[in-house]
Amino acid sequence: MSRRSINLIPELDDYARAHSTPTDPLLAELIEETYSVLPDRAQMQISPEQSKFLTMLSRTLGVRHAVEIGTFTGMSSLSVARGMAADGKLICFDISEEFTSIARAYWDKAGVADRIELRIGDAKSTLDDLDPAPVVDLAFIDADKTGYPVYWEKLAPRIRPGGYIIVDNVFQGGRIIDDAVTTPEVIAMRAFNDAVAADDRFDVVMLSIADGLTLAQRK
Ligand SMILES: C[S@@+](CC[C@H](N)C(=O)[O-])C[C@H]1O[C@@H](n2cnc3c(N)ncnc32)[C@H](O)[C@@H]1O
Repeated sequence: MSRRSINLIPELDDYARAHSTPTDPLLAELIEETYSVLPDRAQMQISPEQSKFLTMLSRTLGVRHAVEIGTFTGMSSLSVARGMAADGKLICFDISEEFTSIARAYWDKAGVADRIELRIGDAKSTLDDLDPAPVVDLAFIDADKTGYPVYWEKLAPRIRPGGYIIVDNVFQGGRIIDDAVTTPEVIAMRAFNDAVAADDRFDVVMLSIADGLTLAQRK
């Protein structure tokens, strides 16, 4: 028995998916619509297992205050909102009216539109309008990778003790450990991952789910 995570070859990935609760029809419809309307961008969507994981975590935490940076067509926001308490509120940040118009339609279909507020603009500045009180139960970061350090620093003081920041794409498709890769996104993510691991306000675990997901719990 290895103490390391094993390589998730495609067959094992299929096996894990086959032994999880199937993606429900509404999320399946959202995935299909995103791939048909935005075929070149659809891979930005979180994976079905990340979706299930966010819903379960949100439900377990009894989330009432949530924040998302990077909404796109709505998969992650739906996943968080569906797990929240009925009086919970999710504030979503994105720069695109086009992408998020699809998200809005699915929030309506899912009956969670009244729990979600969308703020359009560059989150590096629009985040400043967020209440500074440390009340956020769960924040999800999944936008422009070079912006991650700014999002982290603006969100960290707003997370309540025991609350989480969850960060997507921390593996950068595996390029994170390839020194030959020097794109701005990968360089930024390396520095970001180092800073998060050293941030003693949080307990941190980097999970090898999809493109790498960091879970950070506020002490
Ligand atoms: C990877 S996608 C998010 C995917 C989404 N979480 C999902 O589950 O479908 C990244 C999103 O970040 C948004 N974005 C990019 N730069 C941004 C910025 N500076 N401020 C806010 N949102 C930004 C993009 O418009 C895009 O919708």
